[in-house]
Amino acid sequence: DFIHELKGLDNIEKVLEEKLKVEKVIVVPGNTEEDPMTKKELGKSAANYLREIIRYDSVIALTGGSTVLEVANGMPQLYAQSEIVVVPARGGLGREVEKQANTIASILAKKLGGTYKMLYVPDHLSKEAVESLMKEPDIKEVVDILKKADILIFGIGRADVMADRRNLPQSIKDFLKEKGAVAESLGYYFDKEGKIVYATPSIFLTIDDLKSVKHLIGVSGGKSKAEAILATCRSGNVKVLVTDEGAAFEILRMV
Ligand code: F6P
Repeated sequence: DFIHELKGLDNIEKVLEEKLKVEKVIVVPGNTEEDPMTKKELGKSAANYLREIIRYDSVIALTGGSTVLEVANGMPQLYAQSEIVVVPARGGLGREVEKQANTIASILAKKLGGTYKMLYVPDHLSKEAVESLMKEPDIKEVVDILKKADILIFGIGRADVMADRRNLPQSIKDFLKEKGAVAESLGYYFDKEGKIVYATPSIFLTIDDLKSVKHLIGVSGGKSKAEAILATCRSGNVKVLVTDEGAAFEILRMV
C-alpha cells in the first residue's frame, strides 16, 4: 500500500528475505515497543496473510503471547461455519489467561467459524509428568490433532525476558546465559546461530514435527527483539516472518 511504498518497506522485505533465508517477510511501519498500535497493525497484517493461505479444513496451531493475541484480534469474522480447527501448540497454564495459547485459540476459532481444542497443561512440568500426561486420552487427542497442523503461528521472545516471565529456576537461567541463549520460541531456547541450547520439558510440537507444517509463521516486532528474531530465523523454523520496522532496521544492522 501507500505507506509501504513511501517508506520503501517492500525493499526492506526483499533484503530481509534474502539475508534471513525466509520465504516471505512482511514489515509493518513503526516500533511495537514504542507504540501499541504497531502491534495491532502487525497482528492485522499476519491475519491478512492467514486469510490468503487458510483452507476450509485447515488445522491451525498457535502459541501464546501478546503478539499472537493481536493476530486473533486482527482477524475479522471470516466465516460463520467452517471445518477449521484451532489448537494451542503449548499449554502455558499459569500465565496471564488473555495471552495463553488456549484463550487465543478460542478467539481465532470463533472468527473462523471453526472449533478449538484446549491443552490443560502447565508450562513447567517434569519430563516424567509430561510423558504420563501424554497417555491421558484428552491430552493425546489434542496432541494428535496438533501434529496434523498445516499452519503454525508463533511468537518469538528474548531468552532472558522469557526465562524471567516463566520464573525458571536460577540454575536454568545461569545455564541459558552460559550457553549464550538469545531467543525463545515454541518452548525452545536458541543461541545467536539458531542452535537449540535448551528445551522446555512441556513441548508437544517438537522441532521434528515442524518439518511437516506447511506454513510456519513467526510474528514478532520491537527493536529489542531483533537478535531473538534473527536467531530464530537462523534455526530454520521460520518460513514467513511478520515483523515491524523497529526490529527490521535493527536486524539489517546485524546481518
Ligand atoms: O509464551 C508464548 C510465546 O509465544 C513465547 O514462545 C514467545 O517467546 C513469547 O510468547 C512472545 O510473547 P510476546 O509476543 O508477548 O512478546
